[in-house]
Amino acid sequence: MIGKAKVQLVRGDITDQESDVIVNAANPSLMGGGGVDGAIHRRGGPEILEECKKIRAAEWPGGLPTGKAVVTSGGNLKARYVIHTVGPIWRGGRSRESDLLANAFQNSLRLAVSKSLRKISFPSISTGAYGYPIEKASRIALSTVKKFLEKEDRLDKVTFVLFSQHDLETYKQAAREVFAHT
Ligand code: APR
Repeated sequence: MIGKAKVQLVRGDITDQESDVIVNAANPSLMGGGGVDGAIHRRGGPEILEECKKIRAAEWPGGLPTGKAVVTSGGNLKARYVIHTVGPIWRGGRSRESDLLANAFQNSLRLAVSKSLRKISFPSISTGAYGYPIEKASRIALSTVKKFLEKEDRLDKVTFVLFSQHDLETYKQAAREVFAHT
């Protein structure tokens, strides 16, 4: 617990989450892809893609920059909304990847709070196709959430949904370190 918000780690498919909002690990095109992106568009249905096209045309004609976040409805998903964010592609760690990854989490949290959403679920952004080492990414993800919750009390729950047992165990170890003194 940080303040009154609960941070939890679960193993599963993020498209099954009942949260107010789930976060998509998107690419700058917002036109869908594989992994989390593919699952969300498949289960959420065409409405999400249609809204993404409108967002691209109206706000991000050149594509959504890494670290930024936008919101659409959840379509057929249990979650009412989807926040689409773009994590950094891992290029060895000397291209501000850690700042960009932190921005993706922080901007998603800010957007959720701005829409008065209280339960948010994240996948392990950037650790799939984008190749970010999960041992590093998990610590950035959890410390960014911790810092945000220390200043912001309008969230009730932040859930990390890990797709494999290995990813869950890695996040658990990172959480033991990041939340050691809370
Ligand atoms: N639920 C939860 N986690 C999932 C799911 C799912 N349904 N599917 C995959 N994952 C996990 C992966 O195992 C990985 O740990 O999410 C993490 C992020 O993997 P990706 O989805 O590949 O996302 P990312 O690494 O950020 O790469 C983004 O991949 O799908 C494309 O369009 C997307 O180009 C973008 C890139």
